[in-house]
Amino acid sequence: MDDPPTLAAPASWEGVLVGEAGTMALGAALARAGLCRGAVCLAGELGTGKTTLVRGFLRAAGVTGTIRSPTFTLVEEYRVGTMRVAHYDLYRLSDPEELELLGLRDHLTADSLCFFEWPERGVGVLPDPQIDIRLEYAGGGGADDARRVRCTGSECAARDLLGRATRDLFR
Ligand SMILES: Nc1ncnc2c1ncn2[C@@H]1O[C@H](COP(=O)(O)OP(=O)(O)OP(=O)(O)O)[C@@H](O)[C@H]1O
Ligand SMILES: [Mg+2]
Repeated sequence: MDDPPTLAAPASWEGVLVGEAGTMALGAALARAGLCRGAVCLAGELGTGKTTLVRGFLRAAGVTGTIRSPTFTLVEEYRVGTMRVAHYDLYRLSDPEELELLGLRDHLTADSLCFFEWPERGVGVLPDPQIDIRLEYAGGGGADDARRVRCTGSECAARDLLGRATRDLFR
């Protein structure tokens, strides 16, 4: 008998996140789906939920202490079991070259995971992301609006991971 056809995971997924809990849930689903290394870029206007998504990821991954936004420190680091996570917010970065001083080289090792908020500020220095996430206000732009999200995986492994995470969200 012929093998059943294999369906490739789609390159990107789009959905709507309702409330802070919805954004946290996407972060948590990425953790459960096995996200543990590589670069994840989080783009979106001020207040669209980038930090909230990382917080959802870190909580589900097992971080129990305070999870601060890297608004002023530019980077916050976590260690969860064997996983190392760096959470960047590049909004206040004055020059992409500054990333070197923040330890980017050490954060881009094979066993590390990096989240980059405001990746457009690090153009030329940041690596190509495995996962690209874009958030926007779903309605007129008010703080209470649901958020529209589009997640894109650059290669098969990332697409499979996104597929698992998004199926998990709507179980
Ligand atoms: N899906 C959602 N619906 C409604 N509110 C949300 C949603 N997701 C997050 N929020 C709320 O939006 C606010 C801003 O979230 P957050 O700080 O994560 O945004 P941000 O994109 O990191 O902002 P910045 O660009 O300033 O770093 C928070 O009050 C959060 O609770
Ligand atoms: Mg933020």
